[in-house]
Amino acid sequence: RLEKIWLAVSLVFIVALVASIVYGVAGMGVGTVGDTGQQLDPNGLDQTRFADPGGHWVDDDHYVVNVVARQFLFQPGTQEPIMVPANTTVTFYVTSPDVVHGFDVVGTHLNAMVIPGQETKLTTEFDEPKSYGIVCHEYCGAGHQSMAGQLIVV
Ligand code: CUA
Repeated sequence: RLEKIWLAVSLVFIVALVASIVYGVAGMGVGTVGDTGQQLDPNGLDQTRFADPGGHWVDDDHYVVNVVARQFLFQPGTQEPIMVPANTTVTFYVTSPDVVHGFDVVGTHLNAMVIPGQETKLTTEFDEPKSYGIVCHEYCGAGHQSMAGQLIVV
């Protein structure tokens, strides 16, 4: 009878041990997702911000989108649209790893230069779901005319 109790207790410990290992591995996996991005020219640039470009919630009413502008695309934006929520404070951080670009959300006041190794910060709020074009308005090389993207407010 005592043996059965000890067996049960040791089983609980084994399950707890396995659970903690699985939890630890899963936690580490989440932590390393951002490390797969490209290296950017530093100059004080926030490497973690742009290692894995894209959008995420920072709290219930604030959404952040990290964008890399490079010859000749916006990442995200060109190959996949930037998706942001309506009626929410949205902050864009845009950087460039190569040359000066522009970040112009057509038909809005969002329009700024993007300088290599620096963050351009733009904050706004969209009233309603709508689709916008994004263009680069600074000459950045042979592909400048084709450097464009899409922003979708949902
Ligand atoms: Cu990038 Cu013009």
